[in-house]
Parts: sequence; C-alpha cells; structure tokens
Amino acid sequence: MRTWELSVPLDEASPTPLFVQIARALSEDIRRGRLKPGAALPGSRALATTLRVHRNTVLAAYQELEAQGWISTAPARGTFVSSALPDVEPAPPAASPRSRTLDSVGFALEPPLRTREPVDFPRGALVLSGGTPDVRLLPVEVLARAWRRAFKLGGQRLLDYAGPQGHPRLRAALAQMLASVRGLAATPDSLLVTRGSQGALFLAARALVRPGDRVAVEALGYRPAWEALRSVGAQLVPIPVDEEGIRVDKLEAAAARHGLRAVYLTPHHQYPTTVTLSPARRLALLAWARSSGCALIEDDYDHEFHYEGRPVLPLASADRDNVVIYVGTLSKVLAPGLRVGFLFAPIPFIQRATSIRAVVDRQGDLVAEYALAELLEEGELQRHVRKMRGVYRSRRDALVEALHKELSGALDFTVPAGGMTLWARCAPGLDAAAWARSASTLGAWFSHGGQYTFDGQPLPAVRLGYAGLKESELREAVRRMTRARPRK
Ligand SMILES: Cc1ncc(COP(=O)(O)O)c(C=O)c1O
Repeated sequence: MRTWELSVPLDEASPTPLFVQIARALSEDIRRGRLKPGAALPGSRALATTLRVHRNTVLAAYQELEAQGWISTAPARGTFVSSALPDVEPAPPAASPRSRTLDSVGFALEPPLRTREPVDFPRGALVLSGGTPDVRLLPVEVLARAWRRAFKLGGQRLLDYAGPQGHPRLRAALAQMLASVRGLAATPDSLLVTRGSQGALFLAARALVRPGDRVAVEALGYRPAWEALRSVGAQLVPIPVDEEGIRVDKLEAAAARHGLRAVYLTPHHQYPTTVTLSPARRLALLAWARSSGCALIEDDYDHEFHYEGRPVLPLASADRDNVVIYVGTLSKVLAPGLRVGFLFAPIPFIQRATSIRAVVDRQGDLVAEYALAELLEEGELQRHVRKMRGVYRSRRDALVEALHKELSGALDFTVPAGGMTLWARCAPGLDAAAWARSASTLGAWFSHGGQYTFDGQPLPAVRLGYAGLKESELREAVRRMTRARPRK
C-alpha cells in the first residue's frame, strides 16, 4: 500500500495531544475523499515510524477513530476506512485545526448585548467609577471560618444537587434580617437566592416580561438592568427623574398612552443621582400600580448605607397589594465577587422565577449560602455593616471637603444622604466625558453623565464612588481630577 501521508504536519508544541492531531488529520482526509471507504490504512507500527511517534500514539488515534465510526479493524487483516460511511463528495480543503481561527460562526447570530466590560485599571489607579465597597476591609478571617464550618458541618449535602430556591437556612436568615431592618414581611417561601442583583433582575425580567411588553425605566438609570429587560424582549420606555426621584406623573402618562407591564426603579438611592423618592411620589406610585396592575421592580442595592437618620423603608414594606418585586444584594454590604443577591416577592412570582432559575443555572453555591446564613445568624454581617457605615460616612465627608476645597467652581452637588457615590453637575461648558478621559490618564477614574442617559447623549455631570477609597486616596483623586480639568 502506498504510504499514507498526513495532510497536516504534526505539531509537537501544540496543546492538542498528538493522537488527537493524527485522528483529526485522518478523519479530515476521509471527509475530503482523500481516503475512500474501504481503503486500507497503514499498520500502527509503520505509521508510527513514518510519523516519528510512539506506536501507542497511533494506536490511541486509531481507537479514537474507531470509536467515532471512521475506521474499522479486521483481526489479522488490518485497519480500513469504514465502508459504512456515506459517499462523501470531495470537499474543498477545510481550514486545518491549526490554521482555524475562532473569529466567525457558521450559523446566524445576533450581536452581543450592550454590556460594559470591567476596565482593567492600571496599578495605582484611584477608581471612583464604581459604587463598590472597600473589599480591603472585609473580615476575611471571619469569612474563611464560616466557609470552613460550612464544609465541615454542612458536609457533602452542600456539594450535591439541591433545590433551586437557595439554602433554606439562608432564606430564613435573610427573611429575619429583612423583617427587622427593612420592614419587609418576608418569609423563606417568598425569597429566592440569586447570583447577585443581576441574577435577580434577569430572573424577574424573564418571569414577568413577554416579548414586546413595555417596561418603564428611570432615565438616568442603571444600564445592566435595562439590558436584562431588553434581553427578554422588553420594549423600554424611559421616564425622567428629578430631585424627588422618578417622575410618577410622566409614568402615568406613558402608561395611559400605550400601557405598561412593569416599572424598574431604584427608589431608595436613585441610580445614579442618589436622590430618595419623595413620600408623596411613593404613595402615588403604589396607588397607581394597584389600580393599573403594573408590577414595580424595586432595586434596593445599598439599603444599609444611609448616613442621615434611618434609611427610608423600601416601597415593598408599604405594598399591600402584592405589586412589588423587591431585588436585594450582598454585593454592597459584603463583596460583589460573592455574587449573592435575592428576590423577595409574592409566592406565586417566586415560584415562577425559581422554575426559571432551575433551567438557567440550576441552583446556587450552597457552601457560600450556608456560610452566609451563619454570618447573618451570628450577627457578623450586621457588625461589618455597622463598621462600614461609619467608614463610608467619613469617606463621603472627606470627598465633600476635598471637592469644596479644590473644585467648587467646577462642580455643584447636594451632599448625598446615603449610598456609596456622589453625583455632581458640572459648571456650564465643562465637558464631563473629556474630563473623565483626561483624569484617567493621570490615574483617577470616574464616570460621566453620558454613561447613564437612555440615549447615550452627553450630560454635564460626574459620578464619584467614594466607598472604595481611603480618605487620603480620595484627596489625591480630587487633586488629580483638578489637574485634569479641561480649561475653557
Ligand atoms: C442600581 C444597582 N443595582 C444593583 C447593583 C448590584 O449588582 P450585583 O448585586 O449584581 O452585584 C448595583 C451595583 O453597582 C447597582 O448600581
């Protein structure tokens, strides 16, 4: 038999094992008609010598091809291309595995959603662009102990398949915390533990929205929620916000025109302006939702961080008509990387969202859920929140002082009563986007208003996250902002 030659040379440096490379080259040659059904293949010893590989490598390749049905071995006769293969048209040479690139698809595909990738900040960057907690101050020893105990005490059950709603112990602990701190009549059955608020928002959107449904959102607002809603077919209706939060009159007008299925909003600290929805609007909103049968998706992402008196209770705490779907997260009180959030809603809604969760990612991280339950039961999480509230308040004050000192001519703001960020309007003519770009070259990163507008139009405002930086770092960040400020 003529010696068969591999059409693709073997590549010893490739991460693909040699036997896989041989099997791929052979099957490719069969597919292309270079090797016909019934054709004899060289013996393993001969092929190993030709290819300068160990015979076991060729045997492994043959075994793989036989398992896939490309070849068959007849005892004492040899190895043959399977005659049961359909007659294949000689095809043009396909890209070899080595030259193949993965920058196209062989099927129809919609473009990616408009999500924002996290920026890979350079070393030493002072980042004010996220409203993130200072994870440097996490009590990691306490967390590690809780996780260790979860593995030890929860045993293997926590590593097995389980129900999709979240560990019952965490749901019970969350229900207790929501009742005592946020005035919510939560029960374990009315809670679904999710992967952060984002997981909760997606599940809520998927549970609620039918393609084409109109959903109102705050504009300015939180783009990741908009994209979750859009991803399930919602048609978004932007509603303006002012210093009292979402304009309920505009909402009612929009609903009267074309109907609304739901409203997504951040009543406690409006994102990104941090204003609190006024009591009059809260009442009006709940009354309107009751009469219109519209669902309110309330995103209460940083409830505990309120510095002037008590936090305002969530809309959900005043919901007598079961119209509010409440979204919460541990991303701000503990750490965003833990990815633990929750939905609190009337039980039929939780049951529907839970059934969707089961087909999205089946269940959560039970070890983490068990450990977090213990941290809540023992008051550790609450202790950390109390400590961080003091820290963040001082940081807010330090930022405010630095801004007053260095940038009073450029920025106008109301001191935020809570949250982890400060929202400021720029002086007339100041290009906030250009300022943010130039500050980033000096190592101070912040967000500008255009990142929160519904239509992406520029807005002369900045958002400064202060919780993640020490007071000295905040002062330095403001100095860099001052140096970077565009001169007219
Ligand atoms: C409005 C809003 N909702 C929710 C979150 C928290 O998201 P997650 O719980 O998915 O980390 C954030 C975080 O920045 C936010 O700004």
